Amino acid sequence: MPSSIRSVDVHPQPVLSPPAPVAVFLVVTIEPGGEAAVRDLLAGLAGLVRAVGFPSPDGGLCCVAGVGSTAWDRLFGDPRPQELHPFRELEGSRHRAVSTPGDLLFHIRAARTDLCFALAAEIMKRLRDAVTVQDEVQAFAYFDSRNLLGFVDGTENPVGQAAAEAAVVGAEDPAFRGGSYAIVQKYVHDVDAWEALAVEAQEKVIGRSKLTNIELDVPGSHRDVNTVTGPDGEELEILRGAMPFGRPGHGEFGTYFIAYARTPAIPETMLRKMFLGGPESGPDPILDYSQAVTGTLFFIPSVTFLEAIEDRPVTG
Ligand code: HEM
Repeated sequence: MPSSIRSVDVHPQPVLSPPAPVAVFLVVTIEPGGEAAVRDLLAGLAGLVRAVGFPSPDGGLCCVAGVGSTAWDRLFGDPRPQELHPFRELEGSRHRAVSTPGDLLFHIRAARTDLCFALAAEIMKRLRDAVTVQDEVQAFAYFDSRNLLGFVDGTENPVGQAAAEAAVVGAEDPAFRGGSYAIVQKYVHDVDAWEALAVEAQEKVIGRSKLTNIELDVPGSHRDVNTVTGPDGEELEILRGAMPFGRPGHGEFGTYFIAYARTPAIPETMLRKMFLGGPESGPDPILDYSQAVTGTLFFIPSVTFLEAIEDRPVTG
């Protein structure tokens, strides 16, 4: 944790959970009048996860809930997380990062499909008349943490204290300590075009060797584009939890991208470099094989905030 979080009694949602074998990403919008049901659900979410997960202690069930910018005002009013805003669409010369609707995100993870399914079903039972589902993706770990382009994904993620520093809000926004920001994007891959490339060409796109996962020094590669530094040359980090999904029968092969960050400015810088290009490089070559079909920004309040919802005045 950032030291400013450790010193006070604020508990983050499980954004720092390690990668799990199964995930469900559920994005919904709130219907007019649905605010009360959503507030009830969020206030009781920790208990619901405990109820579904407790009988299967090895299942590692956890859930992170996020709230979009306009939904925040409808649910909670002021104060607002300092950097919460709608996802900023990017239109490059060749690629577009679309912004798509989403008032709530549920990122459910577990070791088993049935646990994720059961929790998603319980959440939806409580929200059925209050929300419209915008997107629901069942994702899975694929071989040795590979994505559907065949490359190991997540290697350079920060761990331990560095992960908490990267992903959890500290003293910079005292009312929302222990929170986090999440950007989600659903990407679909053109696997035929990708598989037509020689492995060496694929490795130049990613910036790592495919079999051994060793870093390659390739300017303009996905890895290079996403290595961003701050004013003092320090590397700026995010915590990625991307997972593969797909339906081979429908020709669908994708990566559900999620980045947790202490400030949305860091993943936004990465996205600008990827989609618009930067001074030293063009757009990210991974986008020639991957199209973003959704894009939404959420704030992830702390568990402490969620448990105190009943004490906040109703705004919606
Ligand atoms: C099509 C979607 C994407 C795929 C398939 C993908 C895949 C990968 C792979 C295979 C790596 C190398 C191994 C690793 O360190 O994880 C990587 C690194 C990375 N990606 Fe992505 N990625 C995608 C989208 C994004 C987006 C949208 C962002 C940022 C907003 C991003 C940020 C990063 C970062 C920060 C690294 C680590 C760079 C480093 O320090 O070496 N990726 N990605």
